[in-house]
Amino acid sequence: MQGYSLVAPAKINLYLEIIGARDDGYHELAMVMQSIDLADQVDVVANGSENIRVQCDNLEVPGDKTNLAYRAAELMAKQFPEQFSKFGGVDIKIYKRIPVAAGLAGGSTNAAAVLVGIDLLWKLGLTKVEIEDLGATLGSDIPFCVAGGTAIATGRGEQLSEILGLDNIYIVLGKHRSLSVSTPWAYKTYRAMYGNTYPQDTETLTARTSSVHSAPMIKAIVHKDAREISQQLHNDLEKVVLPEFPKVLELREALTSSGALGAMMSGSGPSVFGICESLEHAESVKQKVRATIPDQDLELFTTQTIPQGIHMSDFT
Ligand code: C5P
Repeated sequence: MQGYSLVAPAKINLYLEIIGARDDGYHELAMVMQSIDLADQVDVVANGSENIRVQCDNLEVPGDKTNLAYRAAELMAKQFPEQFSKFGGVDIKIYKRIPVAAGLAGGSTNAAAVLVGIDLLWKLGLTKVEIEDLGATLGSDIPFCVAGGTAIATGRGEQLSEILGLDNIYIVLGKHRSLSVSTPWAYKTYRAMYGNTYPQDTETLTARTSSVHSAPMIKAIVHKDAREISQQLHNDLEKVVLPEFPKVLELREALTSSGALGAMMSGSGPSVFGICESLEHAESVKQKVRATIPDQDLELFTTQTIPQGIHMSDFT
């Protein structure tokens, strides 16, 4: 059977500002998103049947329609019925390395890999932008996961402007296995607390969103200045998640007191990352965090920024 094996990297948010409410019920965001080399492997293999099947080596990840990877395959089948009947269904195997429900876009990057894999398998020849547009109908983070690297993301998070790749910045990433934060809960709570500060007219909303392009964070990235990037880290969702999840705050403080240049929660959490100067520095920060929080429920990773999203791995 023919198949493709894809690398599906996680993302972190170097910057996440909630600008205001949108008519579609979502929030208008200004974000800087970054791919990291902590990645899942997603195999997409023709199965000669009419079925879509999803399997994951982590039993927390469902194999049914609630899995975004399944919905990505279903979307492709619906969108390209001729190729679906010609090439048949797919078996999707996910080898999970990215912590689940962590604010690292683990589900979105798996779905992005399925879109790219099926494009190859069914010889569709879609452009990257066409794949991103299909992905946007399934989830706000999927277009970025397809493209990867470093990007400014606005709108719901699906409108991307690529910026100069920020590779080889070392990061220590932590997540408590037993903690998960619901993204809709985080946004809903933020709206309840800060909705009265949102701009009321579209013009102000748009102007505020586009000002991210000239934000100090972007300058720091262009200069590849890890210290300045660390100073400019920002995530509005911390305001609602940290008070509710003291362990996330404790982890953030442990990263900073262990010598990380800066630390911030990613997305709606509960994962937290710390920026480091080198691999050696990252290893030392990781050891110190482990000593501060010896709880085995806390998973710690050393990772680095990478300049790409979904890409092929070797498949035999
Ligand atoms: O698009 P996605 O399904 O990943 O979003 C998950 C949830 O996060 C949405 O249902 C919504 O509650 C919230 N969200 C939001 N505004 C955004 C993106 C996500 O309110 N721009």
